[in-house]
Amino acid sequence: MQPIFQNTGLVGTGAMGRGIAQMAAQAGSQVWLFDVQPGAALAARDALHATWQTLVTKNKMTAEQMQACVDRLQLASALSDLAPCDLVVEAIVERLDVKQRLFAELEDIVGPEAVLATNTSSLSITAIAAPLKRPAQLAGFHFFNPVPLMRVVEVIAGLKTSAKVCQQLTEFTRRFGHTPVTAQDTPGFIVNHAGRGYGTEALRVVGERVADFATIDRILKDQMGFRLGPFELMDLTALDVSHPVMESIYHQYFEEPRYRPSVITAQRLAGGVVGKKVGEGFYAYDKGVAQVPAEPAVPVVAEMPPVWVSPKAARRAELYQLLKDLGAQIETAAAPSSAALILVAPLGLDVTTLAAVERLDATRTVGIDMMLDDASVKRRVLATNPATRPDMAQAAHALFARDGKAVSVIRDSGGFITQRVVATIVNIAADMCQQGICSPADLDVAVTLGLGYPMGPLAMGDRIGPTNMLEILFNLQTVYGDPRYRPSPWLRRRGALGLSLTHEEA
Ligand code: NAI
Repeated sequence: MQPIFQNTGLVGTGAMGRGIAQMAAQAGSQVWLFDVQPGAALAARDALHATWQTLVTKNKMTAEQMQACVDRLQLASALSDLAPCDLVVEAIVERLDVKQRLFAELEDIVGPEAVLATNTSSLSITAIAAPLKRPAQLAGFHFFNPVPLMRVVEVIAGLKTSAKVCQQLTEFTRRFGHTPVTAQDTPGFIVNHAGRGYGTEALRVVGERVADFATIDRILKDQMGFRLGPFELMDLTALDVSHPVMESIYHQYFEEPRYRPSVITAQRLAGGVVGKKVGEGFYAYDKGVAQVPAEPAVPVVAEMPPVWVSPKAARRAELYQLLKDLGAQIETAAAPSSAALILVAPLGLDVTTLAAVERLDATRTVGIDMMLDDASVKRRVLATNPATRPDMAQAAHALFARDGKAVSVIRDSGGFITQRVVATIVNIAADMCQQGICSPADLDVAVTLGLGYPMGPLAMGDRIGPTNMLEILFNLQTVYGDPRYRPSPWLRRRGALGLSLTHEEA
């Protein structure tokens, strides 16, 4: 099969450039390596030889395939050596002026049909292409680190990029076995935009002292199946990388409240407490291992009170069954007895609001998060309100831990923790669809592959139910009065009609 691009030039042969060179060679291109730093291209070639050798040792490549790849790699000693290239990808410093200058030089070297691609993760493709004579030939080609393992590539169209250029890059990506997704040129493209919700909302939760960061991490992993909690993730990425991205996207969207960064990370960054790589982040690290604070023990309760469940509780029938299975003494009268533990299960609202609106005795009222079905979660989350009596909180904790499932007790918060974080993620994704940044299918694929979420944000919203998602957001807005929770029109319409979040209008 003919390669999509016969000759691929790589400018900048650092971590990203090497990875992209590897992919291009494996897709059958002749690859030319160029770097301004003397010896860098040679070092990249040696590193690639070693990588292929390892792949052969692991039986992931034959010796013949390796030799073919090795034969395709060449060093360029000057930019003009890239003249035969029909694709040039840059992975140099992340500076607009430097990238613009490079492409202006390149377009006088390569042929008029050659594709110019930038691996920028934060600059505008349209701005990079603006000074060019042929802006239609330039597109974003955004890889993730490490390139061979992160199997998604964003192909980004600037305002003037030709459709053919995007098609070629898309097909090329398929040839080396990665999944291409197509995005319009907007801040953060797909993955870095869709990823805004997880950390920022978790930071708001911790900023309200709803729970400590270790508890928030446990809850999101055990309830929703995230591989890493938001604070573990920020420690791994390091705040010197992630905080500036939060600020940049927020400002690029002209202070859109949905992306508002947190003073917590700004301060930690200023103090150098940036994460695992310095041994100190949200967690302390001992020889690279996070020191996770122990969970509070399950209280021992001598006399368990009877339990009364609010008629407005989410998944009320399931909650009843769960209480039965746990051996609770359930009250079924219209109002709770004076001894009863009172349970509410809000969607989006806080326990305090429900106690007030339903005229319940707040001192005995505790909330449980029933957004997800109990069988699907590895942890139950209970919330107190400022008036809850300690004996009632303890009774609820002990009761819901009876079958050995983990239980976290948090302070009152609109929509608990998982509801808030998931609703924020889903709402941002829905708004990306509303803006037409990408297709719903590409959005879910990009986030699953690029961020490692257990499922795409739209699938997440569908699992919980678009109508429930909408209710949670409306209620969060009521509790917080904050425009960051206003539902995107995409979610609002699909939620109101009970349509899937992946549904596109005809
Ligand atoms: P790196 O620092 O490992 O490599 C950059 C290379 O470019 C160096 O070898 C440097 O000598 C060379 N270089 C700098 N200016 C040059 C110029 N004008 N002409 C030729 N070579 C030049 O950096 P890394 O991590 O490979 O990233 C490179 C680019 O990829 C950046 O633009 C970055 O935004 C983008 N990117 C990086 C990701 C990452 O996780 N590291 C992820 C996605 C995109």
